[in-house]
Amino acid sequence: MAVALLVAAGSGERLGASRPKAFVVLAGRPMLEWSLAAMNDAGIEQVVVALPEGEAAPEGCAGVRGGATRSASVRSALDAAPDAEQVIVHDAARPLVTPEHFTATLAGLAEADCAIAAAPVTDTVKDAGPDRWVTATLDRSRLWAVQTPQAFRRAALEDALDQPPEVLAAATDDAGLVEARGGVVRVVESSARNLKVTTPTDLKLAELLLADRLPPPSAPRRAF
Ligand code: C5P
Repeated sequence: MAVALLVAAGSGERLGASRPKAFVVLAGRPMLEWSLAAMNDAGIEQVVVALPEGEAAPEGCAGVRGGATRSASVRSALDAAPDAEQVIVHDAARPLVTPEHFTATLAGLAEADCAIAAAPVTDTVKDAGPDRWVTATLDRSRLWAVQTPQAFRRAALEDALDQPPEVLAAATDDAGLVEARGGVVRVVESSARNLKVTTPTDLKLAELLLADRLPPPSAPRRAF
């Protein structure tokens, strides 16, 4: 059985909105509802949402209070789903996720401890120190920009999260913690369209892309 953990407890300071980011209305719905709809369409029946203070869990989901860091939020949500063998972690900040992202990453677990959505990198990436002197130009053909969803065998995720708070606080992605413990991680190809909303520009872009998914507005009524 698979459970989805939707992490939505961040404040979203960089967005500068008056509500926590996952609850900002985007193309007519609170941002996290777009991910919940995709999970539903993928046939995922159990969802646990890590929530910021003062926000209630959406209908049909279990809710837990999120932690001080993203990994702490993942851990709290995982504890609320003790029976699930497969766990799929998704950031509410990626509202453009599709049902196929969930089914494809779960399928990837057949040959790995963890399967992650990621997009091929299109920019050239250079390594430079704080002094800005470039030390290397990386081989772009091997680089992937990592996203969520990230699917895990439960034991691998539990082991990855069983680490001191300072290690968890430094992690920007749970798959990185699995790698560090010797786990097998596989990339599942996604596209840049599954963007993460961080800044007001991202919000605008997501709004434009989601507008494609809305039903067409009904024809204007004729005034007689
Ligand atoms: O801050 P950032 O956009 O990288 O956060 C990624 C995701 O993790 C967001 O969906 C955010 O709500 C969630 N998060 C969380 N608990 C935290 C920090 C972030 O659930 N303490």
